[in-house]
Parts: sequence; C-alpha cells; structure tokens
Amino acid sequence: MEKKVVLITGCSSGIGLGLAVLLASDTYQRFKVYATMRDLSKKENLLESVRDCHADTFEILQMDVTDQQSVVSTIEKIKEQRVDILVCNAGIGLMGPIECHSYEAIKKMFDVNLFGTISTIQAFLPGMKQRRSGRVIISSSVGGLQGIPFNDVYCASKFAVEGLCESLAIVLQHFNIHVSLIECGPVSTNFMNNLNFLDTSDSSLQNVDSDTHSLYDQYLQHCQTIFQDVAQDTEEILQVFLEAIDAPIPSLRYFTTQFFMPLIKLKLSCDGGSEYVRAMHKFVFSGVKPKSESK
Ligand SMILES: NC(=O)c1ccc[n+]([C@@H]2O[C@H](COP(=O)([O-])OP(=O)(O)OC[C@H]3O[C@@H](n4cnc5c(N)ncnc54)[C@H](OP(=O)(O)O)[C@@H]3O)[C@@H](O)[C@H]2O)c1
Repeated sequence: MEKKVVLITGCSSGIGLGLAVLLASDTYQRFKVYATMRDLSKKENLLESVRDCHADTFEILQMDVTDQQSVVSTIEKIKEQRVDILVCNAGIGLMGPIECHSYEAIKKMFDVNLFGTISTIQAFLPGMKQRRSGRVIISSSVGGLQGIPFNDVYCASKFAVEGLCESLAIVLQHFNIHVSLIECGPVSTNFMNNLNFLDTSDSSLQNVDSDTHSLYDQYLQHCQTIFQDVAQDTEEILQVFLEAIDAPIPSLRYFTTQFFMPLIKLKLSCDGGSEYVRAMHKFVFSGVKPKSESK
C-alpha cells in the first residue's frame, strides 16, 4: 500500500513532536512523515523518540512558517513530490493586558499563528487541488471559538485561523480536500512555558491601572487552576488528530474536550453575546464553573 505523505509544522516539541512520532511508528507503516521545525538544533528530542521507527517512515526538514522562502523550498525536498496530509501545528501564545504588549510581540504572534498558516496552506494546496485529494489539519484552540480574558491577541489570531479554514473548507469540498480544525483546550505541553506572558512582576505591568493589574493576577491564578484541573495529556490530543486522519469523511471541527462546550454553546446562542461575556467573567473571576458533562 502506498504510504500517505504527511507534513507537520512545529515538530521540535509538544503536539507536533508527538504526532510525528505517533504516525512514524504506525504499526502498518501507513505514513511517511516529514517532521518540520524552524530550528534544527532542537531535533534531538524528536530523533530520540523515533529511534525505533523504520527509516522510510520519517524525515526531519527545516521549515520556518514565517519565512516564505523556507516554506517554498521545503516542497522541493519532498521525495514523493506530494503531501497528502498537511498538519499546520506551529503556534505561539501571548498573554497579558493588551496595553502592555509591544507591537513587535503582537506582530510576531500573528506572523506565526495566522500568516504562517496561510503561507503553508498556500504552498501545499495547489498540489492537492491538482490531485483532487488531500487533508489539511490545523492545531486550533477553544481560544479560536471563544474570547478568553488576557488572551485577546492569541484569540484574535486563532479566530482568524478559524475563519480562514471554515471559508476554505467550503470551496475545497469541490476538490475532495478536507479541512479539520482540532479544537484543543489546555494541553500539558511546553506551550505555557514557551508562551510570551507577562508575569506579575513584569515591568510593563507597572504602567497598567490597578484594577486591570488585580484582574490579571486573578486570571493567572485561574489559569493555573484550569491547567491543574482540565489540562489534557498530549497522547489524548493525538488520538483526536488520528481520528481526523483516519475518518473516511472528516469533520470540520474536532473537540478534544467537552469542558468548554457549555460556554461555546452559550456564545453561539442568540442573545447577542452578553450572556457569554457574563458567564466567562463569573467563571474566571468568581470561580463559577460552566456546567460540563465531563472533562
Ligand atoms: N498547549 C496548549 O495548551 C494548546 C491549547 C490550544 C491550542 N494549542 C495549539 O497547539 C499548537 C502546538 O502547541 P504545543 O502545545 O505543542 O506547544 P509547543 O510545544 O510550544 O510547540 C509549538 C511549536 O511551534 C513551533 N514554532 C513556533 N514558531 C515557529 C515558526 N516560526 N516556524 C515553525 N515552527 C514554529 C515551535 O518551535 P520552536 O521550538 O522553535 O519555538 C514548536 O515546535 C499551537 O498552534 C497552539 O496554539 C496548544
């Protein structure tokens, strides 16, 4: 059986690394994985994890999603000259009161999360369209569906990715190309350590008004509790990616957790959105949990 060629962005750690390993070690060797990362000096963890994989199921390539030249030149390095499954996973976070973020930090985040995703899709889509076949899978977030306090810019980038993919999915149906957004809640990866967040001692917070400062302190505590209570293991998330990869006709959205569903449903209900704003405020600042069926 011909192997499915998979290209994944952001494989130096976390979900990207885990997915690359999972697919490269598939029992039936169904996949040839091109695991890409922007900085090849970070490849040791991945190499260590794929040590026992068959050589022809795996290859590491350098690719920085913010560098168009790097994205385009990656296509030429793919021996099979095609990608069947494109996984846009590279992403960074940014947390804190909006007035404290530098323009550079905001731009960098949009460059990776939104423009990086657009460039990657632009590069690999024409081949898929020509073959009338393909899958595009995105590491999205519940933060792409609901506003989260002090994650304004991150949510803006993921909302944009949601709009991008939902729009693309409509036209791509015609080409037998399926787009799937994996809506992750908190995941126990290095994401929180890697994200650019203002801690309470950060000097840029000195200029923020005391109410915002205190709300942000409360949010950071809430965030810690949420990660302790509902963060999922990477393995759990990877099974959802696998579900999207294996589905004969994949869905547009896959939710890795039901925990945030009540808030998402509230947001989509027809009250103009105010109820959602109140419920999220209560959840974050008064600890009133949304009613959820399970984790
Ligand atoms: N963890 C969570 O709680 C969570 C929740 C919802 C959604 N997500 C989404 O899941 C995705 C993966 O995150 P993760 O949890 O696995 O975090 P992670 O361990 O920090 O992984 C992020 C990956 O993106 C890569 N990256 C950053 N900038 C890049 C660029 N310019 N070009 C190529 N790669 C780049 C990083 O590479 P470097 O090591 O070189 O920086 C790293 O490999 C992200 O899109 C994130 O938004 C995560």
